[in-house]
Amino acid sequence: MPAPNFSHRINQALQSRREKGLERKIRPVIGGNQTELECQGRRYFNFSSNDYLGLANDPELVKAWQQGLSVYGSGSGASPLVTGFTYAHQNLEASLCDWLGYERAILFNSGFSANQAVLFSLLEKDDLLLQDKLNHASLMEAGMLSPASMKRFRHNDTNHLNTLLNSDCANLVVTEGVFSMDGDIAPLKAIQDKCLDRAWLVVDDAHGIGVLGKEGRGSCETAQITPDILVVTFGKAFGLSGAAVLCRHNTGDYLTQFARHHVYSTAMPPAQAHTLTHAVEMIRGQQWRRDNLVELNQLYEELLSDLPQYRETQTPIKPFVIGKSEATVKSANYLRQQGLWLTAIRPPTVPNNTARLRITLTANHTKKQIKTLAAGLRQAIEKQGDAS
Ligand SMILES: Cc1ncc(COP(=O)(O)O)c(C=O)c1O
Repeated sequence: MPAPNFSHRINQALQSRREKGLERKIRPVIGGNQTELECQGRRYFNFSSNDYLGLANDPELVKAWQQGLSVYGSGSGASPLVTGFTYAHQNLEASLCDWLGYERAILFNSGFSANQAVLFSLLEKDDLLLQDKLNHASLMEAGMLSPASMKRFRHNDTNHLNTLLNSDCANLVVTEGVFSMDGDIAPLKAIQDKCLDRAWLVVDDAHGIGVLGKEGRGSCETAQITPDILVVTFGKAFGLSGAAVLCRHNTGDYLTQFARHHVYSTAMPPAQAHTLTHAVEMIRGQQWRRDNLVELNQLYEELLSDLPQYRETQTPIKPFVIGKSEATVKSANYLRQQGLWLTAIRPPTVPNNTARLRITLTANHTKKQIKTLAAGLRQAIEKQGDAS
């Protein structure tokens, strides 16, 4: 058998991405977690970060991490079942359970690994996994690689979900609480009603936790449901990184034994766990951050809702849907020249012909920044009209 020609394969894949206008670029920035960032000596208003509550640079949180470092040192030194699990981790788990009303919380180094761990450790051959069509790549990939058969229900379509449930096998239904590229909220109550006694429900609330609901408890609290498993991630509203899976006692014990991403991965640094516990307190207590977001959301709507590209959302995720990839990249580049940093999101991340600018608001944005954004978006659309 001839040796696989990996270089050829790599070159072809890169070439094809370029030809389709889908090539992504990575570049270092300063202040990517602030409302103004700097790249190659130029400053921009930043509408791309998921630091929704503006915690990443909050002096109180930075200080908590510094204190954590001086108490616990740097890394955790081992995986949780060896010596990586400390009182800082235990405290974080307890504060998450207290806040979100679960018996157990199991920590992970990222939302990606938490999602994969949940699906891989729960699903067996002959099970049925039902996922919303727009679920995050981490969930889709885990579903495809799992031994279960996977079906995707139409986005937020509970009737379609209902037709797919199968009473002859174990069913696992997975949805996001807030969809990352559309900013819309799943009909969680209706989904849970369909699942009753027929399926377990997993909600990935990466984009809802901290932002929605009383004390920032997220989209499940807003919908008044308690899914069997709730995944929360710390890279967005918490201003840090990592994730937790909230569940019942037995499920927690099971994940501790069998979730490979937990068992075979170095535990998050204890100082990080310490800081995350502090972030939970800030999220619960500082309602003004969510109030700011509501005000900015209203202003964004007032300024832009007459445009066909505008999409209404109740969350800080504001898709501005342009359609064609090339036109979207052109608009993003034009806005960049105007000092506005937005990300062009293209297929395969979103469906064909729905390429968009993904705009995210944070509690730290000013009204002036939103007004500048709105004026820039209008100009970008006018430019497109001139060019066509
Ligand atoms: C819905 C959703 N789930 C999971 C993840 C992955 O989380 P993390 O960035 O912590 O790996 C993301 C990340 O963007 C996400 O949007």
